Formats: sequence, C-alpha cells, structure tokens
Amino acid sequence: MQIIHIAIDGPAAAGKGSVALGLSKALGIPCLDTGAIYRAIALFAYRNGIDNFVGKLGEANISAKIINNSTHVFIGKEDVTKSIRENEVSQTASKVATMKPVRDYATKMSKDLAKGQSLIAEGRDICSVVLDKAKYKFYLTADNETRARRRHAELTEKGKQIPYEQVLEEIIERDTRDKTKGGLVQVPDAVVVDSTKMTVDQVIEHMLKHVHGK
Ligand code: DC
Repeated sequence: MQIIHIAIDGPAAAGKGSVALGLSKALGIPCLDTGAIYRAIALFAYRNGIDNFVGKLGEANISAKIINNSTHVFIGKEDVTKSIRENEVSQTASKVATMKPVRDYATKMSKDLAKGQSLIAEGRDICSVVLDKAKYKFYLTADNETRARRRHAELTEKGKQIPYEQVLEEIIERDTRDKTKGGLVQVPDAVVVDSTKMTVDQVIEHMLKHVHGK
C-alpha cells in the first residue's frame, strides 16, 4: 500500500487542526497534532521548573498516541490531553519550543509516529523537518485579527473570559517567537492558503483539489 504524507504548517489559530481533521475524514488518513507534544513538554516544564526540566526530559516518559483521530498525550501514565489546552500552556509551549533538546525530543516522537503509515501532520516545522519529504505541503495562514477572533470565540465557548485584545497580543507574541526562535518556517514548495476570507470547508475543499490533482 502506498504511504501518503501530508504536511501542514502555519501560525497559531490559523485553523490547522480543523482542516487536518477534515482532510483526515475525506481521505481516511489519521492526523497528528504535533503542537500537543510541545504542550505536553511545556506542562512537564511547568511542573518541574522551566530552568530545570531539560535534564529530566530523558526520564519524563512523554508519549503521544492517535486515538479516534485525536492526539492524546501522556506524561508517564497520566493522560494530560485536556490540561495542555489551558491558555498559559500555549505561551510556555512556544517558549520551550525554542530549546534545541525540546525540538529534538518532539521531532523524534513525531517522526516515529509517521513511520510506516500514511499521516496528516500539522504544526510549525512539518514541511521543513518532520515530514520534509512529504508529497503534499501546505502553509495555512490568516491575518492576525481573524486568528485572534477565532481563538477568542473558541475560548469564550469554553467559558474562558479573556479580553479580545489580550488574545490578539498573545497570538502576535507567540508567532513572533515561533518564527524567530522556534520552528515556524514557510518552505518554498508549500502551497500557501490564506483562510482569512474562507470557511473551514472551503479550505478543505481547496486542499483536496491539490491532493487529487497532483
Ligand atoms: O499548534 P499549537 O498552538 O498547539 O502549538 C503550541 C506551540 O508549540 C507553538 O506556539 C509552537 C510549538 N510548536 C512547534 O514549535 N513546532 C511544531 N511542529 C508544533 C508546535
């Protein structure tokens, strides 16, 4: 059977998760949220002290598993999939993602999950590092205000009262760090999709055309 790898990168709240899931359903290929791995490491860092955790990473026993197409992450036996979605973990994840040992650890986990199977993976360095040989590469983006509005609506729906201005500021701060010190790269051979004026379904349809047409 042919192995198909689809790589999706882009800044925070561009809709990568929803799009990956839609493509996954349409193509029958599992999807991996690599951000969840960085978030699990961030939670481990938070618990062990941000200046202290790198040396302990080897024994941390952090793992990821795709269950019903959702990326579950574990610290030892503890399923931390829910806790990593806290707003504070987003900023910590972006900070720990600038550290080389963290990137190496997360990259190995992601590459291992892609071994021998078709996979749609989304993150920041999928096209450039994790699935650098992928046949299909996408860079999904949207303007800052649109992404902040989407993230703000998501948080409000979850009962989190965070002012829109703060969400916007945090997204810009995180993107700047991800681009300058972290792994966010727009590779020249990626198809760029600007979802500012598109619905999730339109983005999925657009990407499917590329996949079917190549
Ligand atoms: O996609 P996300 O917001 O859950 O990711 C959280 C942080 O993890 C993000 O700010 C940067 C980092 N990350 C990364 O550096 N490389 C990836 N492939 C995925 C995430």
